[in-house]
Amino acid sequence: MKVGLLVIATNKYTSFLQPLISSADNYFLKDQEVTYFVFTNKDLNLQSNRDIINTKVEHKPWPWMTLGRYEIFDNNADLFKNMDYLYYCDADMRFVGDVGTEILGDTVGTFHPGFLGRRGTPEVRWNSTACVHAHESMRYYAGGFNGGSRRGYLDMANTLAKNIRADEENGITAVWHDESHLNRYFCTKPPIVKLDPGYCYPESWDLPFEKRLLALDKDHQEIRS
Ligand code: GAL
Ligand code: GAL
Ligand code: MN
Repeated sequence: MKVGLLVIATNKYTSFLQPLISSADNYFLKDQEVTYFVFTNKDLNLQSNRDIINTKVEHKPWPWMTLGRYEIFDNNADLFKNMDYLYYCDADMRFVGDVGTEILGDTVGTFHPGFLGRRGTPEVRWNSTACVHAHESMRYYAGGFNGGSRRGYLDMANTLAKNIRADEENGITAVWHDESHLNRYFCTKPPIVKLDPGYCYPESWDLPFEKRLLALDKDHQEIRS
C-alpha cells in the first residue's frame, strides 16, 4: 500500500519534524510504502529512508495553522494522487509503538483520551457549521490523528474546509477549532475504523491503552509565540 503521512509545521513547530519522522520510520506502517508530506514555511533538510515531499505553506497566526489544515489538504489534493491512504498527525507527536495495518480503512478516527465513550466537548452554538445538537448522539474524537483512503480522506477534507470557511464568513470560530468540525463530521458519518486513545496518548498521562502515538507535553504559550 502507498500511504501518505501528512504533517503541518511552521515556525517553532518545525523543531518537532525530524524526531517525528524518525519515529515514524521505526513504527508507522513499517511494511508499507510510506511517503511523508510536510507542509512548512521553512527550508528544512529532513532525513529519512522514505520519500519526503515538502510543500511551502504560509504561516498564519493562531488558530489558523490548526483550523486551516483541511483547506491545505483540499488545495493540495493533486499531490496525493498516487497514494492509496492518507493519514494526518499533529507535528508535536511521537510514534513509540507499532502502528500497523489495523489503521487502514476508508475513514479513520481516534477516540479522544479525555472523553472515551462520552460526548466530550463538541461545538453547541447553532450558528456554527460544527454544531452538534443535544438530541444527536455522538462520541468524541481527537483532532491529532486521523486518516482514510485517499477518496475517503479528501472527501472529508473538502467538506471540513467548506464548513470552516463558512464559519469564518459568519465570524464564528468553533470551540475546539478543526477538532469541533471533525466531530461534527464523524457524528453524521462515524469513521469505519475507530482507534483507541493509544493513538493519541498524552505523554504524561497513564491510560489503560498501549502507547503508540504520543501527544507530547509542551508549553503551548511559548511555542505559539
Ligand atoms: C498544534 C498542532 C501543530 C500545529 C499547531 C498550529 O496543535 O500540534 O501541528 O497545527 O497546532 O498552531
Ligand atoms: C484537551 C486537549 C485539546 C482538546 C480538548 C477538547 O485535553 O488538550 O487539544 O482536544 O481536550 O476538550
Ligand atoms: Mn498538539
